[in-house]
Parts: sequence; C-alpha cells; structure tokens
Amino acid sequence: MSSGGRLWGGRFAEGPADAFDRLNSSLAVDRRMWPQDVRASRAHARMLGAQGIIPAADAAAIDAGLARIAEELASGEFAFAPGDEDIHTAVERRLTELAGDAGRRLHTARSRNDQVITDTLLHLREAAEAQVAGLRALADALLAQAEAHVDTLLPGYTHSQRAQPVRLAHHLLAYVWMLDRDRTRLGHAIAATRTSPLGSGALSGVGFPIDRDATAAELGFTAGPSPNSLDAVGSRDALIDYLHFAAQLGVHLSRLGAEIVAWASDETGFVELDDAFTSGSSMLPQKKNPDAAELARAKAPRLTADLAGLLGVAAGLPLAYNKDLQEDKEYLFDAIDTVDLLLPALTGMIAGATFRADRMRAAVTGGFLAATDLADHLVTLGWPFRRAHEAVGRLVRACIDAGIGLEQAGPAEFAASGLDGVAMPPLTAEASVEAKRAPGGTARAAVTEQLAAARARVASW
Ligand code: ARG
Repeated sequence: MSSGGRLWGGRFAEGPADAFDRLNSSLAVDRRMWPQDVRASRAHARMLGAQGIIPAADAAAIDAGLARIAEELASGEFAFAPGDEDIHTAVERRLTELAGDAGRRLHTARSRNDQVITDTLLHLREAAEAQVAGLRALADALLAQAEAHVDTLLPGYTHSQRAQPVRLAHHLLAYVWMLDRDRTRLGHAIAATRTSPLGSGALSGVGFPIDRDATAAELGFTAGPSPNSLDAVGSRDALIDYLHFAAQLGVHLSRLGAEIVAWASDETGFVELDDAFTSGSSMLPQKKNPDAAELARAKAPRLTADLAGLLGVAAGLPLAYNKDLQEDKEYLFDAIDTVDLLLPALTGMIAGATFRADRMRAAVTGGFLAATDLADHLVTLGWPFRRAHEAVGRLVRACIDAGIGLEQAGPAEFAASGLDGVAMPPLTAEASVEAKRAPGGTARAAVTEQLAAARARVASW
C-alpha cells in the first residue's frame, strides 16, 4: 500500500501501521474544531486569492467547497475516511474531492503547525467568551442570596470550629470576590487568544507575499499577527492561561461545594437544597443528597490535573512544533467541558437554595462566639490584650465546667476568672457582627457597602 491517501504521502513507500495510526490520530479529539478549521481555511484562501498567490477562480472554488464541507459537517453527513489523521487533513481531503486541483492549492503558504494553533485559539476564544456569561450568572445568584441574607447570622469558622458570628451575606460574598479574580484570569486567557499565529508556516514564516493583517482581521485576532514564527507555532501559553483559570475556579467551586455539603447535612441543617439539584438514594427512601455540591467538590483535582498535564507536555520541548503538542487539546477540551458543566449546575443550586436562618441562629446562640468581643471590651477598659485573652479564656473554662454558655456566666464564673466587678457588654451575635465596622468586616454598613461594590464589579465583567 502507498501512503493511504495521506497528505504527506510523497516521501513514503508504505502506509503507517495500524498501531501507529491509532496512536497518531487526533481526529476523535480535534473534530470538534471543524467550524474553526473551515473558517480559518476560508480566510486563508481568500487572502491567497486577493494577493494573487493562487488564481482568483481557485480561491472561489475553495470557498464554495469549504462552504459545502461546513454543511456536511453540520448535518453529520460528512464521511470521514480511514486516512483522515485529524480534522485538518479530513477537510483538505474532502475539499480536493470536491474541487480537484483548486483544493490542492489551499495549503499553499501554510502548515498544519500554524493551522492547528490558529484553530485552537479560535475555539478557545469562543468557549472562554461564553463562559464569562456563565461566571456572571453564578455571581448573580450569589449576589441575590447575599442581598436576601444581610441580617441572617451564622457562625464563621476557623479549623471547622465555631469562631465568631458573621452575616450570611458576608460569607456568600467571599465567593463572589473569588469569582471576580477568576474573571480576571479568564480575561488574561481571552486576551492571549487575540494574536494570530496564522502565516507562521511550519516554523520559519512563509515565502509568499501573504497578508497576515488581513487574515488576522478576518478571524477576529484583534492584536494582529504574532511577531515570532517559532514562538507562534511552538507555544501553548494561551491554553495554559485558560487552564490556570479553570484550575483556580475549580478550587473555588470545590470549596463552595464542600460548604454546601456540610450545610446540607442533618447535623447542621443550614440549607435546604432544591429537589431539582439533588438526587435520591436507590435504597434509602428518606435521602436527598447534595450531589451537585459533591461533584463540584470533586472536579477540582481534575481541572488541576488538566493544568499540570499541559504544563508537563510543554516543559522541556525544544522549539518549535513537536508532535507532543497534539496532546494539548485533550487537556483543554476536558477543562472547557468541565467548566461548562459546573457553572450552570452551581448557579441553579445556589439560586434554588433555601438558607435556614433559624438553624443558623441556633448555632450562634449559647456558645462562646462572643469570647473575643469580651476580650476586646476589656481592652477598651484599659487591659492589655494578652491579659484580657487570658482572663476570658479562664471564664470560658469556668462556663464549660458549669455547663453553660458565655451569656449565662454569673458571679461565680466571673470571680473564678478574675473578672469580678467588670461591667459586661452585650454579648449577642448582633453586637459581635456590628463591632466589626472597619471596611471588609461584618457590620451591617460594611456589608451593605461591600454588596454594592461587588454588584458594581460583577456588572463590569
Ligand atoms: N493534529 C496535529 C496537532 O494537533 C496537527 C499538527 C500536525 N503537524 C505536524 N507537523 N505533524 O498538533
């Protein structure tokens, strides 16, 4: 057998072994880039025609052929052939069937090396731009719940131990600020897709009078053509920027998921999830499981692995293109698809959640969440903080021994801790959150201001 209809067959006496073919083929992964492949090829062919590099009639025949191929691919009627190594070879093979020698001119002044990264950047840019809206929807759901829960108090935790009361709005807004930084990272990735690698050739540029500005403009590469052909075909930085965004987002959503799982437990009962975002048990009739939150928790390592995987592939590669880089798309597409699954599901879960203010209130009542406020109060009476901390610590121990909370402490406990004669301030959760008036704290005015700032940020995305 000869080269099996392959585009690079001239040099080869024999076709590839099946075992090699299976390893080498990327069609199963990259066929989803067909709209970008057709679009970039049409732009390239139009430019070749306009520059007189190929006859105008051939450019027109290529354009018509590619339009038809796009219809075939969209309808599912496109027949992939056994020798189609990737989406680029499949499209060019079909174009040659349809347009003959005109089709054979498409690859003039182009290599698959600049073609594949061009297609990938176009694909990434579309996906990433759509995800800005997905992030926005999740942030809006968090903002709406925050707005409704400015006066809902719950324990804030350190080391998973109740520490000080916070407003639920404050807690939910913490996630909005994380998403805001994720939005910034996504913006970096989108910006990195705005430089056009097309026209870099296999590695060293192109020996024809091509117009790189024209193809860049037609394909929406608003930052213009890349300045270095080796860098353009050999780098995957834009993909890595995206994967960094996705990994960090994954970590944030995992933490949110973990909290919702804890809050939905019978032990806590802080949240009741909408039936539509939970599932039942095949055996235990009473169960309503927070699966969306659990899956959000579990996707973080996958997104982190996608980032680590591509960084690993790219590290140590000599310039410029190496076949190793074909592995890039599995990591990229896995991350895009995972983020596409997560964002709408978490948005629905948060929007439909009923936060149980009564259960949260019970958890901030009767314990020791005001211990620091009491120490702060002693400081305002002139005590050094370290001595105040020590005395309140003794009071907490006396209360624990007596089986009561801080608010129930009486003369016996005060005497036992060296606090007799001290006039106690109100030790309610309200007093505690209101005391944190500095910006970024839990006082009502600070949280309302924060909510407005978060709304303005998200509106500017
Ligand atoms: N399928 C290849 C990839 O994804 C296209 C580029 C092939 N280039 C080459 N020189 N063999 O990277």
